[in-house]
Amino acid sequence: MKLSKKAKVTLVGAGPGAKDLITLKGLKAMQSADVILYDALVSEELLSEIDDSTLKIYVGKRCGKHSFTQDEINTLIVEHAFQYGHVVRLKGGDPFVFGRANEEIDYVESFGVVVDVIPGVSSVIAVPGSQGIPMTQRGISSSFWVMTATKKDGSFSQDLKFASQSETTMVILMGIRKFKEIIQEVIKYRNPLTPFAIIQNGTMKSESFSVGCIGDISGAVNNIEDSSPGIIVIGDVVAEHPSFFEEEVQRVLYSSL
Ligand SMILES: C[S@@+](CC[C@H](N)C(=O)[O-])C[C@H]1O[C@@H](n2cnc3c(N)ncnc32)[C@H](O)[C@@H]1O
Repeated sequence: MKLSKKAKVTLVGAGPGAKDLITLKGLKAMQSADVILYDALVSEELLSEIDDSTLKIYVGKRCGKHSFTQDEINTLIVEHAFQYGHVVRLKGGDPFVFGRANEEIDYVESFGVVVDVIPGVSSVIAVPGSQGIPMTQRGISSSFWVMTATKKDGSFSQDLKFASQSETTMVILMGIRKFKEIIQEVIKYRNPLTPFAIIQNGTMKSESFSVGCIGDISGAVNNIEDSSPGIIVIGDVVAEHPSFFEEEVQRVLYSSL
């Protein structure tokens, strides 16, 4: 164990999954940490870059493993900072995108402990981007809207409706389990031929990918792996993906038989 007793916390974005999509600054912070408290979406491969003299502690919220409450996580960060010194709080993607980073910063700072933030590559852009799906495209989409489909109580947010009514590229996080219901809502406002993509475990070896049109989601539904993190992209930019193009060609060919 490295001996450094000055309590300090660095909030680091780990990137979307692949171990080399963390920033250089983030990796350096990990290498200088006494303790790393990491989330469910942080890859084992990235953690294995750091030698075992650094304490690495899982504090995630994924089903199947013990799920830590936000209060427990806040307490653990502060306790470890006072006990060991430099704590890296490692979060998937970028800490400020659905990461509850502010809650952790406020709590830690209330103990007089300094918090630094090192941004991360967010899955929002990187996961579709690594598949060749742009967020914006001249003449096709001039904006993108990042959202979670449902609110705390499980009901759909108004944003889903408003985004569906526009031409924006919709990027929906944490929506995999509600994919069917999301599409049922979106199709009230958008052309059934609007393309969508679902990317799960993006940028990792286990990545999976489905595309289609919102008017026919049957193929994609069968490919969904409920327990893997996934992003849903809806909008004409998805048609940039080569497999979408191939599926469209086949659809046209079969419909003309
Ligand atoms: C709590 S949010 C955190 C997002 C994170 N802060 C970021 O910037 O990427 C978790 C959601 O992000 C999405 N996500 C994160 N990493 C992903 C990946 N590698 N592939 C697909 N979706 C991912 C999924 O929708 C997942 O449910």
